[in-house]
Amino acid sequence: MVKTLLANNARWAANKVEGDPEFFTRLVSQQTPRFLWIGCSDSRVPANELLGLAPGELFVHRNVANLAPPQDINCLSVLQFSIEVLKVEHIIVCGHYGCGGVRVAMEGKRNGLIDHWINPIRDTYDEHAKALFGISDVGARVNALCEHNVKAQVRNLCANPFVQDAWSRGQKLELHGWIYDLRDGLLQDLGTSVADAQQAARVFPGHYTALLKG
Ligand code: CO
Repeated sequence: MVKTLLANNARWAANKVEGDPEFFTRLVSQQTPRFLWIGCSDSRVPANELLGLAPGELFVHRNVANLAPPQDINCLSVLQFSIEVLKVEHIIVCGHYGCGGVRVAMEGKRNGLIDHWINPIRDTYDEHAKALFGISDVGARVNALCEHNVKAQVRNLCANPFVQDAWSRGQKLELHGWIYDLRDGLLQDLGTSVADAQQAARVFPGHYTALLKG
């Protein structure tokens, strides 16, 4: 089975060169992606493929339930490098409906290490408990929490020092919260796009007042 993957790869590389002989040599020297994708590790949400982007066009960070926690050294490193070195212009946090990580967070069972990782989703659940309890269908409730989780990550990014510094020095950097529907392959913008600190305070009222200058 693994040999099939290597054979697939050889065929893919050959096809690329056939259509564009300079394809790989162009990419060797540098990458200049304009977008950072923070998405779920779920195998059904392949970032480049569903955006129609080629190698070199998307910087990708994926983890269980597309989290951007302020203490995660992995996510922080990705943020610093993509903002300060690659100078991406857009950061897209993309969740997906039916996310297993979000569902597990909602179930309240003991699962092991993953419980520590998804704990921020439980906080988000508590934050929106009243509205979420009103949704009797469990699948629909998971999906609503998937959306809240994406927005919570965009909110985290608004307070991130690398993001804040980029905005302070006038660097173009826009954050977006999207959600992907496994059933039809379509993305939806959740309407939480933020391009500067003032906008962050408007989109997420009650947050970041301490970070706003003046
Ligand atoms: Co997921």
